[in-house]
Amino acid sequence: AKGAAMVTAVAYRLTDQARQIQQTMAEFRLSKAQLLEVKKRMRQEVERGLKKNTHQEATVKMLPTFVRTTPDGTENGDFLALDLGGTNFRVLLVKIRSGKKRSVEMHNKIYAIPIEVMQGTGEELFDHIVHCISDFLDYMGMKSARLPLGFTFSFPCHQTSLDAGILVTWTKGFKATDCEGENVVELLRDAIKRKEEFELDVVAIVNDTVGTMMTCAYEEPNCEVGLIAGTGSNACYMEEAKNIELVEGNEGRMCVNMEWGAFGDNGCLDDIRTKYDQAVDENSLNEGKQRYEKMCSGMYLGEIVRQILIDMTKRGFLFRGQISETLKTRGIFETKFLSQIESDRLALLQVRAILQQLGLDSTCDDSIIVKEVCGTVSRRAAQICGAGMAAVVDKIRENRGLDHLDVTVGVDGTLYKLHPHFSRIFQQTVKELAPKCDVNFLLSEDGSGKGAALITAVGCRQRELDAQ
Ligand code: GLC
Repeated sequence: AKGAAMVTAVAYRLTDQARQIQQTMAEFRLSKAQLLEVKKRMRQEVERGLKKNTHQEATVKMLPTFVRTTPDGTENGDFLALDLGGTNFRVLLVKIRSGKKRSVEMHNKIYAIPIEVMQGTGEELFDHIVHCISDFLDYMGMKSARLPLGFTFSFPCHQTSLDAGILVTWTKGFKATDCEGENVVELLRDAIKRKEEFELDVVAIVNDTVGTMMTCAYEEPNCEVGLIAGTGSNACYMEEAKNIELVEGNEGRMCVNMEWGAFGDNGCLDDIRTKYDQAVDENSLNEGKQRYEKMCSGMYLGEIVRQILIDMTKRGFLFRGQISETLKTRGIFETKFLSQIESDRLALLQVRAILQQLGLDSTCDDSIIVKEVCGTVSRRAAQICGAGMAAVVDKIRENRGLDHLDVTVGVDGTLYKLHPHFSRIFQQTVKELAPKCDVNFLLSEDGSGKGAALITAVGCRQRELDAQ
């Protein structure tokens, strides 16, 4: 009888534990009504960002990009492109050929940006960038060419023209000093001058979302939206010039870099943020900022998972109640690990092997819980990102006074491309929340490099026209 009582007690503890785990997970499961609310609030913030009298305090900045048209196939020439702010820093040479045999040929080299440089002084950062360009030009044998350059700089910039962008604030892991409030194109030009080795013509500063949209629009003219779901999260789209109050002129359209990662920084998402989201924010380099991005981008999903696992371990549900040094380490769950853990083909033993690789000793039960936590966190990410996109496509539809809109979204980013479920759940959500839009998603091939070159080509052409 005593044995039976003990078994019952253990069984009770287990079900109670399962119940508590489910309770924690439930905070991450959003209803359709909640997602519609996210969409609605995104729309409100979009309007506030666009309007002159609310722009100052708006969190979603809706930054003008001075890109007024998508490519038309007549772009031509050799261009240099820089890509800073994604998973890797790269220098590229892009050869675009127009005419019947349209083609784009690219050569690129990846360079590391050591963390001391990311978080050192601005001068060090830009000297390092120019050092990498110099190495690349040597490698390609093109030091004397004075090529036009497009700078993909994937951070919020206040642009006053195609080739001027003042850094509003660093995001993601960057924190170099003396850059915020400065025109980054000038910082680059100054560093090139300091080096005294080569000359370049910096024509355009480009956000990665815009590069992605332009790359996809080169293949598919219907593409008028760009999305990045990677290290960070952001979108851009073609807005009516008359709605962009920060820029003079009411004719035509201009691409707007939304900087939607900052959505929620005024507290408007607090009702769906959990204590784990708050912990991730408090542990970050930019506390209080980019709150939406911290709920749905690759740099932070693993951090949310880690916070939940720490809490569950403390409550005795996981890892025999032992918080290891590994679990205390920031950034251990990179997108690629989350993607592996959530892969459907993976047996639990393999999940355990991955955790082992990370230095986490797990039991079979642990691995089941970890997998469920990952799935729940990434599902919410895909859904709230989808709610944001639903707001964008509906806005475009309303702009044009249409009952129905067909539109293509160009997409890039490691989370979107690597994760086994993110893209599907994201697309489903857009469909459900914006039923009047037929949205086609096009993966961009190297949007940051190719897109920057295309924009540079358009910029050079515009300059020639202006000179005439
Ligand atoms: C961050 C940046 C934004 C960029 C996005 C994706 O949100 O602020 O400019 O587009 O990351 O890389």
